[in-house]
Amino acid sequence: MAEPRVDPPIAMLAELTHRCPLACPYCSNPLELAAKETELSTGTWARVFREAAELGVLQLHLSGGEPASRRDLEDLVRHARDAGLYTNLITSGIGLTRARLEALVAAGLDHIQLSVQGVRADISDRIGGYRGGFDRKMELASHIADLGIPLTLNAVMHRHNLDDLPATLDLALTLGARRIEVACVQFQGWALRNRAALQPSRDQVDTAKRIVAEARDRHQGRMVIDFVPPDYYADFPKACMGGWGSTGLNVAPDGTALPCHAAQTIPGLAFQNVATSALVDIWYKGPAFMAFRGTDWMPELCQTCDRRDIDFGGCRCQAMAVLGDPTATDPVCRKSPGRATLDALLAAEGEGGAAPDFIYRRPKPPVPA
Ligand code: SF4
Ligand code: FES
Repeated sequence: MAEPRVDPPIAMLAELTHRCPLACPYCSNPLELAAKETELSTGTWARVFREAAELGVLQLHLSGGEPASRRDLEDLVRHARDAGLYTNLITSGIGLTRARLEALVAAGLDHIQLSVQGVRADISDRIGGYRGGFDRKMELASHIADLGIPLTLNAVMHRHNLDDLPATLDLALTLGARRIEVACVQFQGWALRNRAALQPSRDQVDTAKRIVAEARDRHQGRMVIDFVPPDYYADFPKACMGGWGSTGLNVAPDGTALPCHAAQTIPGLAFQNVATSALVDIWYKGPAFMAFRGTDWMPELCQTCDRRDIDFGGCRCQAMAVLGDPTATDPVCRKSPGRATLDALLAAEGEGGAAPDFIYRRPKPPVPA
């Protein structure tokens, strides 16, 4: 069969560390977090950034955990900039001071994506499991505005904060964000573990869609609103990662190269490490990246479907998580025989009774908010 055409990746997400002062129950990090001792060194990351740029990567997302937990963050930004990459820092804001921000700007940082867990200290600190976090985020946002750093507010929405969506949009405007990403929680990693606690109701989702549509009209030209709807309520799946191994890759703190956040939940995939393999080989020939590229792997249902090249059969990790089969059609799809399983989950979780307590991301008990 013909090999699928493979273009270079556009973006790379560098998970610099899994260390984080927050403990959000919706975190997409794996349940088994990488220890500090296993993290790549400054020098290895610098080489990987150069290899990424040579490969064709344009945008580098520096993420975690909390990337500011790395003392060498400023050096890493400088190396990325020297390699010619556009640098976006994805941060909770905890661990950054004005002085560190100034150093990051001097190192060439292009953009910041600041997460908010809620619009008030009570809910924000409860969801993040970190007392005082909201106030520190607001203080940092004022420094970001002062220094003129382009800002996107990143709001992960779920059952506990979707009703605050209008206030969340107002907060983004107040903080001077040029863009807000209203991302309904995607159930991977810790979020999957907390799915029943986080699952929104259909009413919440319908209301959110209406609010976003109205706000997009109202704020046109002032702020861009990206909306990631909760796909369990959709009729067709999302094109996860823009198609497996087709537009981007993730590198875990220990250097494991991943086609997506949750790829390690799929049994039998062989992952390479950027410390010992060249990024170009990993991208074009790595067995994990080849596994679900193109269309040959698809079940007949997707092979013969007119949306095959739109959603690429959906998310492999979701098929694994819900159906236990990474080669199945994404259960979100209305045509999928697995949709009944997803509907049963929604009936039990989305419209069910009281939500269970959060299981916070870190193993030790959270600081009470
Ligand atoms: Fe997408 Fe497959 Fe469903 Fe078609 S059958 S819409 S390709 S998931
Ligand atoms: Fe892995 Fe969607 S998260 S394919």
